[in-house]
Amino acid sequence: MSGHLRGPLPQRLEAVLHADLRPPRRRRRLPEPPALGLTPAPHPRGPARVGSARARTSRGVLHAAGIAWFACTTTLTDALAAQAAGADVIVAQGMEAGGHRGTFDPAAAERTDVGLFALLPHLVDRLDVPVVAAGGIADGRGVAAALALGASAVQVGTALLRSPEAAIDAGWSAALAGLAPERTVPTRAYSGRLGRAAATDYVAAWAAPDAPPAAHYPVQRALVGRWRRGDATVDRVNHWAGQSAALATTDPAGEIVTRMWAEARALLA
Ligand SMILES: Cc1cc2nc3c(=O)[nH]c(=O)nc-3n(C[C@H](O)[C@H](O)[C@H](O)COP(=O)(O)O)c2cc1C
Repeated sequence: MSGHLRGPLPQRLEAVLHADLRPPRRRRRLPEPPALGLTPAPHPRGPARVGSARARTSRGVLHAAGIAWFACTTTLTDALAAQAAGADVIVAQGMEAGGHRGTFDPAAAERTDVGLFALLPHLVDRLDVPVVAAGGIADGRGVAAALALGASAVQVGTALLRSPEAAIDAGWSAALAGLAPERTVPTRAYSGRLGRAAATDYVAAWAAPDAPPAAHYPVQRALVGRWRRGDATVDRVNHWAGQSAALATTDPAGEIVTRMWAEARALLA
């Protein structure tokens, strides 16, 4: 979600983020400006090491532009480092999440696969900044559960993928329809960095015992890219998918978000 987005949906999201829910007691308010912000776009020289001079400069530039820094993290160690480096909000990304996650050490991603229900309270209890819950949240039940566990807001990806606004490839959207949680798998097959995707034949082939190890990010993406574009039998786009993909609908994004919030409010009333 970006501070430069205009129109009714961001306003509604803003209202959601600042809504005064009763439970839980530990929930913290998100910062008033800078309001909603994206995790910074990739730097041409790669990610800045947390706490480094470049990270401090980047944070200063963001804040000067009125943009809050939402740091995506998958462990308490990474979350504490981001908080110490000045992150305004920590996103707790559970292993249920679709796509890449913000694991600080990409090589350790398989060893830091923690589910959101364990990760969220672990972070909420130990951090001073607001925590946003991410991973597997795709309807009002998930929103209510995350708020009850101490989240200040939720971040949703997979639930919006099939909306018209996401405009994903038709084959990818079809792969998400009714997709069981166990049919999504963590894979390095697309980019070299671990991300959760639908277990397509392409992804399964890279997990075969005799398959070569994927190259490092982003080399793998380049290595397999040309082949994937030229072969009609493999996924031409990355079929990223979180474990709650079956809950994703083709409704407009605004309707999905509004419905999720209405359901959550009813559950929390
Ligand atoms: C298509 C797609 C691409 C993503 N790419 C990234 C990424 O590059 N970096 C990152 O930190 N998170 C990425 N994510 C994860 C989201 O930021 C978010 O945490 C996640 O979607 C929440 O879990 P959910 O998919 O179960 O809703 C991606 C998610 C999706 C669906």
